[in-house]
This record gives sequence, structure tokens and C-alpha cells, in this order.
Amino acid sequence: MLLKITNLHANSKNGKEILKGINLNIKVGEIHVIMGPNASGKSTLASVIAGKQDYNIIKGNILFLNKNIINFSPDIRSHLGIFLTFQNPTEIPGLSIINFVKNSINSIRKAKNLQQISSREILLKARKISSLLNIEKKFIYRFLNDGFSGGEKKLNEIFQMMMLNPIFTILDEIDSGLDIDALRTVSRVINSFINKKKNSILIITHYRRLLDYLNSDFIIHILYNGKIIKSGTKQLVDVIEKEGYDWIKKNNK
Ligand SMILES: Nc1ncnc2c1ncn2[C@@H]1O[C@H](COP(=O)(O)OP(=O)(O)O)[C@@H](O)[C@H]1O
Ligand SMILES: [Mg+2]
Repeated sequence: MLLKITNLHANSKNGKEILKGINLNIKVGEIHVIMGPNASGKSTLASVIAGKQDYNIIKGNILFLNKNIINFSPDIRSHLGIFLTFQNPTEIPGLSIINFVKNSINSIRKAKNLQQISSREILLKARKISSLLNIEKKFIYRFLNDGFSGGEKKLNEIFQMMMLNPIFTILDEIDSGLDIDALRTVSRVINSFINKKKNSILIITHYRRLLDYLNSDFIIHILYNGKIIKSGTKQLVDVIEKEGYDWIKKNNK
């Protein structure tokens, strides 16, 4: 098992109960999808897995590669291979994408006692991945998310995923704000990134478009009011598309 979440309860620092008993098991090679109405707790779950400090874990455990990571800082989780793309990426004027990514990679390498990546190596890699993503050459020298369009921010998140090559990636609404060409590009890149023996992805989304482009099967979960109230296969997406979430809200009052 890559990720095993058991009976996870988490509150915001001001005491609001957000996650109310999450159970989720993800194996290497699997794609899992979380859908659900706004304010259900999807981004909070992503943040809690990545180790954001804004939440108190009240109960439950998160095991990653059989280690309980609940008390690990975000950087240690990242060294272990967890990567979260943000729903709303932060703008950092003054820090270029390429320097940011280089520092991230080298910090992970350092934690693993590996040699630092050279500027030459990183540039070669960045060029290759930029062209996969149809990103123009100059893009990686821009300041992180500074003045980016919504779509550029999302492409930048995927660029980081490809550069860091994490074992477990959470894509929080990576498809929001992408035009149809960018969505196709991102889907193609995700398809090429997925490796049945090496990594897993958790996709948080409101739309089926991205899911329709995926080549691999996935397991879908509906998160509502802090709980996963239904899990299933692709067919569940059809039901949600047709019926919305009213039936779920009614049955889970
Ligand atoms: N740090 C926080 N402090 C207070 N409330 C929060 C915090 N983070 C999330 N919430 C609240 O928890 C609920 C779930 O938020 P979120 O996880 O962002 O939902 P989703 O991603 O499913 O739309 C919302 O009502 C949100 O306002
Ligand atoms: Mg969210």
C-alpha cells in the first residue's frame, strides 16, 4: 500500500470540523479521483496529506509507504515523494520557476544523500519537459506564478510534477482554468507520467473532461461533508454528470 488513511478527523485551527472520518487506500499504480460539492473538504484533505500546518489532526492516521507521517513536516513528506499541486498557486515575485524547481530537486536529493543536480542537467530536463507541455522556452525564467493566467499557473504545477517526479501526486483542480488545448496537453502528460510500478495520482476535480482523456482506469470517491460517502468506477461519473449531487446530499443529511 502506498497511502493508507484511516478514520482521519481534522479541524481548522479555529475549531471547525472539516474532515470527519476519511478512509482511503491507494496502491502504487492506481489513479484515484475525488469529486464532491464545494466546501466538502477536498482541498483540506489534500493539504492534510501534504502536511499544511493550518489544521489539527484530531483522530486517525496517514501511513505513507508504511510510515506514519502525521507528525512529519511538509518538506520531509516531500522528500518521501509526496507532491501537491495547488488549487490556487502562490505568486512569488523574484523567484524564477527554474531556480525554484532546482532548489526543490536539490533539497530532495540532499535528503537522500544524492549528488546535487547541475545547472546544465536541470536546463536539459526543463527544456524537454517544457516542450512536452508546449511551454515556450522563456517561461521557466519567469517569476513563480507572478502575473500568470489561471492556465499558466496550472501548467507550471504540472511542469513541477514532471521535474520532481514524485511517487504520489495530488492534483487539486488541475483542470480548472485550462482551455481545451491545454487540457488535452495536461491529460497527455499525465498519461505519460503514470507508471503502474512507480507512482500514483489522486485527482481532485469537478469535471469529467480530464477523466475522459485518461488512458488508465481509476477509482472514484465522492467526498461530502468531510466524509467519503461513495466509491466506485467510471460509471459513477455518469451518475454525477446526470444527477448532480442532490441525491447524495439528501441521503446524507
Ligand atoms: N484553514 C481553514 N480555516 C477555516 N476554515 C477552513 C479552513 N480550510 C478550509 N476551511 C473550510 O472547510 C470547508 C472545506 O474547505 P475545502 O477543503 O477547501 O473544500 P473543497 O476543496 O471541497 O471545496 C469550507 O467550508 C472551508 O471554508
Ligand atoms: Mg478545493
